Amino acid sequence: MSGPARLKPEELRSHQWYGTDGLRSFSHRARTRQLGYLPEEHLGKPVIAVLNTWSDINPCHQHLRERAEAVKRGVWQAGGFPLEFPVSTLSETYQKPTPMLYRNLLAMETEELLHSYPVDGAVLMGGCDKTTPALLMGAASADLPAVFVPAGPMLRGHWRGQTLGSGTDMWKYWDDKRAGLIGECELAELECGLARSPGHCMTMGTASTMTAVAEALGVTMPGASSIPAVDSGHSRMAAAAGRRIVELAWRGAALSRFLSPEAYEDAVTTALALGGSTNAVIHLIAMAGRSGIGLTLEDFDRIARRVPVLADIRPGGSYLMEDFHYAGGLPGLLARLGEEYLHLDRPTVARDSLREQLAGALVHDDTVIRPLSDPLCAEGGVAVLRGNLAPDGAVIKHVAADPGLLRHTGPAVVFDDYRTMQATINDPSLGITADSVLVLRGSGPLGGPGMPEYGMLPIPDHLLKEGVRDMVRLSDARMSGTSYGACVLHIAPESHAGGPLALVRNGDRVTLDVSARVLRLEVDDAELERRRAAWQRPPSRYGRGYGALYEQHITQADTGCDFGFLSRPGEVPEPYAG
Ligand code: FES
Ligand code: MG
Repeated sequence: MSGPARLKPEELRSHQWYGTDGLRSFSHRARTRQLGYLPEEHLGKPVIAVLNTWSDINPCHQHLRERAEAVKRGVWQAGGFPLEFPVSTLSETYQKPTPMLYRNLLAMETEELLHSYPVDGAVLMGGCDKTTPALLMGAASADLPAVFVPAGPMLRGHWRGQTLGSGTDMWKYWDDKRAGLIGECELAELECGLARSPGHCMTMGTASTMTAVAEALGVTMPGASSIPAVDSGHSRMAAAAGRRIVELAWRGAALSRFLSPEAYEDAVTTALALGGSTNAVIHLIAMAGRSGIGLTLEDFDRIARRVPVLADIRPGGSYLMEDFHYAGGLPGLLARLGEEYLHLDRPTVARDSLREQLAGALVHDDTVIRPLSDPLCAEGGVAVLRGNLAPDGAVIKHVAADPGLLRHTGPAVVFDDYRTMQATINDPSLGITADSVLVLRGSGPLGGPGMPEYGMLPIPDHLLKEGVRDMVRLSDARMSGTSYGACVLHIAPESHAGGPLALVRNGDRVTLDVSARVLRLEVDDAELERRRAAWQRPPSRYGRGYGALYEQHITQADTGCDFGFLSRPGEVPEPYAG
């Protein structure tokens, strides 16, 4: 690779632990003998930390225990010394109230592990939703050489001759069950068909979006993010990442060399061209913040206005990640975006330039990865809305919504929190019609807490039975990347922090106009001021513990929901023991 000159062994960071004349180095060498290694197996070699988010409770990462062995194989082959570190697992389906509460905790763990141990380079393994941004945020702050190994999507789901998308088809068939179209027998079969192999969700949910973002940033091996978790190519990619990180460590090629403003802009472009998850907006703003780059909601809206959606993947489209892989995967899509939309001369961890990385990348199926001349949607999938209801912004994934609702005014039906909404949404006395605007508050970063994925509010049973499948819904929550509908999300400031969402009352008229980028409460300012004067901030929930730390430091959605003390610039001293 071109770039920084090769380090001498005594210039490696780990030399401070193993190679000096002092008592501490003697002790570290003695403890490495205790681990069962001879001096010639590790001394003078780059130490590569393999951060593994495997856990028995994380089905998306169940293959990472054995896949770490492939990474280590590559590290040994290239003359490095691999050490595996189990780190916290954020299992999207199981962790409550939401793994988003713990994204910053895994980011902290990642940074502190890399910083406090004798690490010259790291391989980061994960893929389930928040894991990718968490690992990359922590590694960007630690700023060592690192390669990300995406967990890979699971295989297509199957049921009675149809393909199923995890998440997306779960919501769809649950609505069919509520509408009385299917019963327990069908549900039992669906349980076995929705998610049938290791790997992360194979729709274009948050996981597929964020692993693609990692590849677009240039911190994975070429093509890594689309390879199905159980494909043998995934092991080959993991071993190649192991070999590559050793070279990066010898060059001292830290992540900041790759995580440039151009790289983040290309990552936004990629997320939008994929019709990716709205969660990418929050995560990318937080990740860029760790790189000292001020990515904003306006950047997303600006890029979205010119980037077409090319990937025809559910929930915005028809296919699944396995199809996308066979159609050419992310390299095929990036090659299509090409010079017109991407910065091709920036370096990646695998090649001297993105241009070199994409050389020879082809699209094999124009129905899955559409040509620029025939996009799925001429504009990127996400729009940023503003107005008196969202002074600091809100987002909507309009490609996954009923086009007839993208300009709509209707009366609000307000729910103060998720439990109340669940308990009362089918209450006929609320008088909900297809024209109503469903409003959920108390579900933001503080209110949720952790900004849970409550944003796709359920459509009341009586309307489902009438065939209504979409309505305008507003919240300060997030939405699963596998969800869909005319759902306005991430309203900032959130109601819990005194945002105007806290002031909406039943019957107020609300206007959504996506082409004008407007979200407006049709109530005059004087009345809103009266309501604000009567508003009281809800008490904090946590008397102690991580939740109390979270409440004290979490930022709002428009700035990425990082902790202020993690996102700000500042020096951290090296911890060498001497
Ligand atoms: Fe892990 Fe969807 S549950 S990616
Ligand atoms: Mg998800």
